[in-house]
Amino acid sequence: MRIDAWLQKATKTLRETGVGSPLLEAQVLAAKAMGQSRMWVLIHPEAEITADADQLLDRRANWEPLAYIVGSREFYGLELEINHHVLVPRQDTESVVDEALRVLGGNKSPAILDLCTGSGCIALALKHSLPEASVTASDLSEEALEVARRNGESLGLDVEWIHSDLFQKLPNKKFDLIVTNPPYIARGEVIGKDVAAFEPEIALYAEDTGAEIMQRIAVDAGHHVNPGGFLVVECGLIQTQRFLNLFQASGWKLIEKIGDDGGWWGFSLRSPVR
Ligand SMILES: C[S@@+](CC[C@H](N)C(=O)[O-])C[C@H]1O[C@@H](n2cnc3c(N)ncnc32)[C@H](O)[C@@H]1O
Repeated sequence: MRIDAWLQKATKTLRETGVGSPLLEAQVLAAKAMGQSRMWVLIHPEAEITADADQLLDRRANWEPLAYIVGSREFYGLELEINHHVLVPRQDTESVVDEALRVLGGNKSPAILDLCTGSGCIALALKHSLPEASVTASDLSEEALEVARRNGESLGLDVEWIHSDLFQKLPNKKFDLIVTNPPYIARGEVIGKDVAAFEPEIALYAEDTGAEIMQRIAVDAGHHVNPGGFLVVECGLIQTQRFLNLFQASGWKLIEKIGDDGGWWGFSLRSPVR
């Protein structure tokens, strides 16, 4: 089948599935199947599509996230490798990076920790924006850290990757900024079927109705921040006030809520350490 005919078929399938941008996604799938760029697909409508294309289309029609199918996702202008061991980086998380850069102000060489780094997206975006920063990133999942490490290598960004249960392997380290997007979904909470079926459980759920990891960070983060330092937290739209209360109870002072007209999904905080 010619590419243009396949694109018509695939767009119709994805539209009927309910995918948000069916034509764009069909073009991305065709590009993946051909081992070419989306631009190449657009200027070669007459080329014969490969047999693989239908399998890729079936996966997307079954709601598998596009990033897992094509194996990559752009985040903060960086092309990242993505696989089933890491959460697909979200657009909301880019505003967490924006807020981290904002609170750092003129500090061009801060010590930064990205706790629960997953694909490494936040750590790498910050290192790319602040080349003189010293950036450390940690995760409990060895498999996720392998992805993050490969992303750092392919982008030529020097980040220290540490396998750790939260702060456990960072006992004596202190940072000017800690940024984190930890797991915070309560077991049993209703989430998108694409998220629940395809994204790693370890990246999504926390015990104590979602608060267990937030609570541990709220208690321990103050020991790992320099006087006057910052914490920037992403925490979803549902339990935001509850999570903020945990940090305020540990002495952290709210600087800014991160969100838009639809609500807020994170916040920045000033250190309890003077
Ligand atoms: C919500 S994902 C965020 C990934 C990435 N920072 C992002 O924004 O796309 C949470 C990450 O926390 C990691 N994680 C879960 N429990 C952890 C723990 N106790 N200590 C460190 N990392 C943990 C997971 O492996 C996962 O990569």
